[in-house]
Amino acid sequence: MTLDIPPIDPPPRLLMGPGPVNVDPRVLRAMAMPMLGQFDPVFTRYMNEAMELYRRLYRTRNRWTFLIDGTARAGIEAILVSLLSPGERVLVPIFGRFGHLLCEIAERCGAELVRIETEWGTVFDPAAIEEAVLKHHPRVLAMVHGDTSTTMAQPLEEVGAICRRHDVLLYVDATATLGGMPVEADLWQLDAVSAGLQKCMSGPPGSSPITINERVVEAVVRRRHGEAGIRPEGFIAGNGAPIQSNYFDLGMLMDYWGESRLNHHTEAASMLYAAHESARVALEEGLEARFARHRLASAAMAAGLGALQLELFGDQRHKMANVTGVVIPAGIDGEATRAMMLHDFGIEIGTSFGPLKGRIWRIGTMGYVCRKANVLRCLAALEATLRYQGFRAPAGAAVDAALGVYRAAEGDFPPGRR
Ligand SMILES: Cc1ncc(COP(=O)(O)O)c(C=O)c1O
Repeated sequence: MTLDIPPIDPPPRLLMGPGPVNVDPRVLRAMAMPMLGQFDPVFTRYMNEAMELYRRLYRTRNRWTFLIDGTARAGIEAILVSLLSPGERVLVPIFGRFGHLLCEIAERCGAELVRIETEWGTVFDPAAIEEAVLKHHPRVLAMVHGDTSTTMAQPLEEVGAICRRHDVLLYVDATATLGGMPVEADLWQLDAVSAGLQKCMSGPPGSSPITINERVVEAVVRRRHGEAGIRPEGFIAGNGAPIQSNYFDLGMLMDYWGESRLNHHTEAASMLYAAHESARVALEEGLEARFARHRLASAAMAAGLGALQLELFGDQRHKMANVTGVVIPAGIDGEATRAMMLHDFGIEIGTSFGPLKGRIWRIGTMGYVCRKANVLRCLAALEATLRYQGFRAPAGAAVDAALGVYRAAEGDFPPGRR
């Protein structure tokens, strides 16, 4: 029988928004590998390998480094719901949309929320964070590393030290930075970090690698709970408030990922394959080389946009290396531009939210997409689109400027690495 609903057949697109991005073909291949039972020794070996791979990505020795099944916000939710007992105080410094997301999740955990905000396009001075910590005495400080909504990255080196000084647990959302910019879990004293695959990790959305240190483990163990029907003999429950989510209970997840392999959910095998291969691809390239590749693409993109006489959004000292905010010029229809880029050139660039809606585009150069040919294609398409709309862009200048940045760096970047 011929069905009236055709099979899925996505058109080829170059995804240069703030994520998801085109998935590395090696990752797509890994996802097509056969299913294994969740307790098959080969599968549990893959689980252990995934733990080790993400320790290296997060640059941590944390034993408890594993995957949460779900998109990046699943990792955020698992950490916050497991850490925050109802009534506990959490401080969230907000510098974009995803800071608001952390607040939203923390409030649903029943935490007492204190927020501080800085204007979108800026980041916090660590002194302001310390002042708020001293004023509010939170138990947890939760903040975003790179907020794709504003394209800004918060320096975290000093924030970790501030939290240690005042005995606060620090959680960081590194969804948009892991694999594209340094995320130093141990060096920066980050107690818990989560991420996703669909940005600089060049994977699909649907798996969230997290890492938690002993300070967090101790807090989770105090809330440990065993599920009737599978609770082993001699199981010792914690005396803290039970974690309000079963799916995101880090204590149960540790029992599943640890030696006891206590059944919890059925691990999303194809997503584990994806996470495993995404990490292998990143580590094979080398993290420093990867960060340099992102910085170079960012510099070339910025030079090209500058040559088009477009204004970059936000405090450029803190711009993320993997996404660039561009102010939509007066008289240009931002959505019509995006639509033409998509339909005529097959290139997706990002829109924006909240106070930036209609004010900026966000152009991503993340992971697999972050390479010279894509930067040049995107700039050429944007220039043509803007000129079509009547914007007086100097012909050819954007590509020339970006190419100039690449040419100047070519000695440092052998062909496969640009
Ligand atoms: C910084 C940051 N945090 C969290 C998320 C949410 O991720 P997801 O949509 O995978 O749940 C995103 C996605 O854009 C993000 O950029």
